[in-house]
Amino acid sequence: MALTLSFHALGRRAFLHAVAASSLIATRPRAVLGALDPAQSVITIRLTARPGRAALAGAPYPATGVWCYGGSVPGPEIRVRQGSRLRAEFENRLPQETTIHWHGVRVPNAMDGVPHLTQPPVPPGGTFLYEFDVPDAGTFWYHPHVRSAEQIGRGLYGALIVEEDDPDALPCDRDVTWVLDDWRLMSDASISEDFGNLRDVSHGGRLGNTVTVNGQVTETFAVRSGERLRLRLINVANARIFGLVFEEHEPVVVAIDGHPTEPHKPDGGRIVLGPGMRVDLVLDLNGAPGIQTRVIDTYYERAAYRLLDLTYASAPQRDRAWEAPPRPLPPNPLSEPTLATAEHHEVVLGGGMMGRMTHAMVDGQRLEARELFRRGMAWSINGVAVPQDRHVHEPLAALRRFASYVLTIRNDTAWPHPMHLHGLVFRVIARNGRATPRREWQDTVLVPPWSSADIAFVADNPGDWMFHCHILEHQAAGMMATLRVP
Ligand code: C2O
Ligand code: CU
Repeated sequence: MALTLSFHALGRRAFLHAVAASSLIATRPRAVLGALDPAQSVITIRLTARPGRAALAGAPYPATGVWCYGGSVPGPEIRVRQGSRLRAEFENRLPQETTIHWHGVRVPNAMDGVPHLTQPPVPPGGTFLYEFDVPDAGTFWYHPHVRSAEQIGRGLYGALIVEEDDPDALPCDRDVTWVLDDWRLMSDASISEDFGNLRDVSHGGRLGNTVTVNGQVTETFAVRSGERLRLRLINVANARIFGLVFEEHEPVVVAIDGHPTEPHKPDGGRIVLGPGMRVDLVLDLNGAPGIQTRVIDTYYERAAYRLLDLTYASAPQRDRAWEAPPRPLPPNPLSEPTLATAEHHEVVLGGGMMGRMTHAMVDGQRLEARELFRRGMAWSINGVAVPQDRHVHEPLAALRRFASYVLTIRNDTAWPHPMHLHGLVFRVIARNGRATPRREWQDTVLVPPWSSADIAFVADNPGDWMFHCHILEHQAAGMMATLRVP
């Protein structure tokens, strides 16, 4: 586990510039949000999924054989302006079929990347053109939706950053992305091939032994006194939940899952991200020149570790820190649910070790827990377990278009579940029946064991939308459903 690597922040940025230069084929002046305006800017990129090698662990370890987009882990960071149109010419050079899902982006259903449900899977050697408008600013990501536990677990993911229409929305010195992943590596730094083992599946998922930031085990991150960073955190791990503490600093959360929230200090100073989630922080670097402070992950209390050190340069960025606290980001164009008339549904999560699930329905058939287990399933939603990648199945609910809904997600298991909804963004309005103070807009809500979360949304995007746990082993082992918006 004790793997070392020095982190070259500037190298990463230099790489991003190279990507931008080669992959931005056409850019025109940007247009009115969402409209097919002839002046709308269209960003065209080419993305190839293929096997590659990545120096995850760093010397003295050899590079790790991975699957990745564009030859690197993470794949290229895609940056577009809010309201523009993204065209991604995708080619599959993997030995398996695959797709791309644009996590958190409110795409038309046909662009959602769910095999069989919204598109045919892309076979080895095949291509697919994704093309859609990007309505919301924020921090998003892209990943496959076929055998996700294995494909994402081997390194297929990248950041999708949608810049605010107003370039002065959040003044700062640097805009930095940390893609957080957790790998299960063997002692020769190769990926452990035990994907889908039943112990992981029935407990907390595939927890690894090597945490990377932007595809590398990272020791230090270089900063300067007086700097203000916008730090975009993306949790792409199969199963690991992060709880980051920036010692001696007071990060301010300004967005969750891409969407602006009232700027606030997180509870206990700790930023919690379940798999799939993103948090945008404003980090004022108020330490003295030359000092070093730690960023630690304390989510699993008995397995806390140091993620990396913030290393201050001897020369400050400026003499005085930024004084004004960050202003709220401009809101995204989301439909406000009408709570007074909203229809209420209950969604019960069941299963897993130390739970009380005795049986579940699979393809209309009642199966006892032991038989479910034999078939690699351990979880249910409202008593139904959906087999791995059975994306076409009976919807959990058929909704009325443009109607408002409140779903109470009741976690009746001993494990936390980050529940992700495609195509729609919801407010988290209550936890355990008590109103949340900020009613955050999110696309993934982490629901702790034996607790509940109420989410509210308007069903304004037509299509069949996946609703699943983003602990990918749970998704594969039954914890997946569909909401239908006609
Ligand atoms: Cu990020 Cu259905 O996934
Ligand atoms: Cu789960």
